[in-house]
Amino acid sequence: MAIEAVNVSVTINGEKRSAEVEPRTLLVHYIRDHLNLTGTHIGCDTSQCGACSIMVNGKAVKSCTMLAVQADGMEITTVEGLGTVDNLNPMQTGFWEEHGLQCGYCTPGVMVAMMALLEDNPNPTDEEIRMGLEGVICRCTGYQFIVNAVKHAAKLMAEGKSLVGEGLSQ
Ligand code: FES
Ligand code: FES
Repeated sequence: MAIEAVNVSVTINGEKRSAEVEPRTLLVHYIRDHLNLTGTHIGCDTSQCGACSIMVNGKAVKSCTMLAVQADGMEITTVEGLGTVDNLNPMQTGFWEEHGLQCGYCTPGVMVAMMALLEDNPNPTDEEIRMGLEGVICRCTGYQFIVNAVKHAAKLMAEGKSLVGEGLSQ
């Protein structure tokens, strides 16, 4: 028996988008395969790595743990919404300046998760950043450079540079 497709509409990085998907489609597959936003990565099949982290209605979410249909009508931010090559947002600048990545595979999810952290806690300690990183796994950096990058972003924010990139709706 054919599975009936359903329409899922979201506002993603400030733009209204929709696509027909099977009800079983994971949110990460909807974003990557149907909306063609491939910055959000898939790094595991056990919901542990955090490479797929996005923001849904302002909260960090692992997009492999939600069905696309559950996100219908919601506001989503992915790494593509943070900033542009010519206009990096403070989190991207922090990763650039502090060498917060090596292979870069985890980086989209890490940056989005750390944005959520800074929105809740604009001046986190090293320990609070490390606790915030619990849900995202980086196999390359040893984390210290990521902590430095997040602190750099927090400093830029304290100087008045908005954490919100052009594509963000919050
Ligand atoms: Fe690893 Fe989602 S792909 S937590
Ligand atoms: Fe390679 Fe994090 S930079 S996994």
